Amino acid sequence: MNIVSDPRVMQREAEKLRLAGKRLAVVPTMGALHEGHCTLLREARKHADCVIVTVFVNPAQFGEGEDFARYPRDLPADTARAAEAGADLLFSPDAAAMYGDGYQTFVTVEQVAKPLEGALRPIHFRGVATVVAKLFHLTKPHVAVFGQKDAQQVVVISRMVKDLDFDCELIIVPTVRESDGLARSSRNVYLTPAQRKEAPVLYASLKGAADAVANGERSAAPLTAAIRAAITSRTSGTIDYVSVADGDTLRELAALEHGQHILVSLAVKFGTTRLIDNIPLTVA
Ligand code: PAJ
Repeated sequence: MNIVSDPRVMQREAEKLRLAGKRLAVVPTMGALHEGHCTLLREARKHADCVIVTVFVNPAQFGEGEDFARYPRDLPADTARAAEAGADLLFSPDAAAMYGDGYQTFVTVEQVAKPLEGALRPIHFRGVATVVAKLFHLTKPHVAVFGQKDAQQVVVISRMVKDLDFDCELIIVPTVRESDGLARSSRNVYLTPAQRKEAPVLYASLKGAADAVANGERSAAPLTAAIRAAITSRTSGTIDYVSVADGDTLRELAALEHGQHILVSLAVKFGTTRLIDNIPLTVA
């Protein structure tokens, strides 16, 4: 596996591969690679001749008081994992190379970045959209692979790709989970053993909502109430939000309609560790 850290070298390499007729896939990550990321890499492999994984803990998407400084970083382990999952090139720039002196250009996706995560993390999606746009310019992908785990991120990036005419196909991979249902996340390592035991309640409560919709529930309020009740009664976590929203606009819904794509999502804090999870549904 080829390892590149200089953005200009990355861009030249991508151009060379394109001129040689190669189909390129990119999997953007912040490292601390786990089975979720590796599943994205294996999916990318099916769509491209050359799979590029980017490893960059992006300072622009962390707010004040968030976990930028303590975000897990382990490039040697990431290199081994990425190679094993079939990546051909690992691009790992440093922050000074991505955001040089005088940097002042940002991509702002408007409405869909405002609710849910955006309401609690006001600069988060500006940072995500900006770095993904930069990574697309540097890696020149035909295909980019993202995880459903970060559902709002998928909506924001899809919007940006459409609105700014990026010539890149997006592929979305379903959330990869532990055997007890907990969504894989680089942040799970922060959980204490007791918190780790409680955390599967998040997905169980989302599945409960999905079952209720499958059984004919068409109001959002009882769904969010049941999720909230499960989390408050069975865990020590505190709820940031529980949402039933339109899957495309992310507008909060009161009633569900036949054929509608909806997103049931939540964010819960266990101590200082914040976990998010979601289930996308189509109403029957
Ligand atoms: P990161 O959290 O490292 O995630 C990288 C990619 O892996 C994202 O597309 C995310 O949705 C996906 N992913 C993480 N856990 C997953 C799981 N359990 N199942 C499926 N996919 C999973 O998301 C980011 O980094 C950053 O915001 C980034 C897009 C790289 C921009 O900095």
